[in-house]
Amino acid sequence: MRVSLRAAALAAGLLASGPGPALAQDAALLERGRHLVEVTGACGNCHTPMGPQGPVPGKTLAGGSVFDEPPFRAVAPNITPDPETGIGRWTDAQLARAIREGIRPDGRLIGPPMPMTLYRGLSDRDVAAMVAYLRTVPPVQNRVERSVYRITLPPAYGPPVTSVPEPANTPVARGEYLANAVAHCMECHTPMLPTGQNDRSRLGAGGMEFRGPWGVSVAANLTPHANGLGGWTDAQIIRAVTQGISATDRPLAPPMAFWAYRNMTQQELSDLIAYLRSLPPQP
Ligand code: HEC
Ligand code: HEC
Repeated sequence: MRVSLRAAALAAGLLASGPGPALAQDAALLERGRHLVEVTGACGNCHTPMGPQGPVPGKTLAGGSVFDEPPFRAVAPNITPDPETGIGRWTDAQLARAIREGIRPDGRLIGPPMPMTLYRGLSDRDVAAMVAYLRTVPPVQNRVERSVYRITLPPAYGPPVTSVPEPANTPVARGEYLANAVAHCMECHTPMLPTGQNDRSRLGAGGMEFRGPWGVSVAANLTPHANGLGGWTDAQIIRAVTQGISATDRPLAPPMAFWAYRNMTQQELSDLIAYLRSLPPQP
């Protein structure tokens, strides 16, 4: 809440100092960045420490959550603008490169579970918006431990990303972009190959397991198969995504970011549904 107020104040301040077209554009970029980071991208699902009531107040994006898995013990870094313990000293270009290519200013690669292969698909406009917004969140001093990887990270996630255009302006293309590059729904909801990569030939088939204080949750099949969302109405899908309640009225377990997705726009939700219904059905 505090975050969005501050961003709004900043945007208003920008406008108050002279509402030229460039400044109005800045305000729009900032608002888009806020929506991407706080709602659709739900960066806080990993980068904000979670308590029993969800994100810990006053610690937005301050890092510290630990992902303890056989191949790694990853710790989410502090991505607030604190100069000592966060990303305050990084340039815009360095921050954009970290988000989209997984390379830090000192050259170290960012490891999983940060969804690097999907973030390579973020559009130029959206990375710029995320960077602009991250500059405006309240700095929080919070030094976190370094991650430990027991697997060898690749030298890079691919060649440098020079330019990514906006998705085509159709519901399915916008939904595909949202479910892959931005919200990484498909990362959790697609089976994992032994290489650690998603099995894209079974896109949306579900099956990945997530362990935590809640026990074990299994990512559901989101394809139009009878084992998936085949029999679900649009309203049931929207309720699952935004409220975390299944078609059978069962509360869904974490780690899906319902708390953030509840602020998705109607258009984003209908784009997502158009995309999910376009997937090849998977048993
Ligand atoms: C699934 C969990 C997850 C999500 C979602 C996620 N991150 Fe990360 N992120 C991590 C982890 C874990 C690391 C550290 C990995 C390592 O130590 O190599 C990281 C590293 C980073 C870094 C490098 C910071 C540093 O000091 O090294 C930046 C910047 C970053 N993330 C930004 C973002 C943004 C912006 C988003 C949302 C668009 C996001 N992350 C979403 C888990 C996540
Ligand atoms: C961090 C992993 C993760 C991400 C990201 C994620 N989900 Fe999920 N999702 C899950 C898990 C795990 C479940 C099952 C929870 C349970 O059964 O209690 C689930 C359940 C669901 C369900 C309910 C299906 C059913 O059969 O009960 C829907 C619909 C859904 N997700 C859609 C989405 C969409 C759309 C997105 C992107 C906007 C998304 N998910 C992002 C992990 C994730």
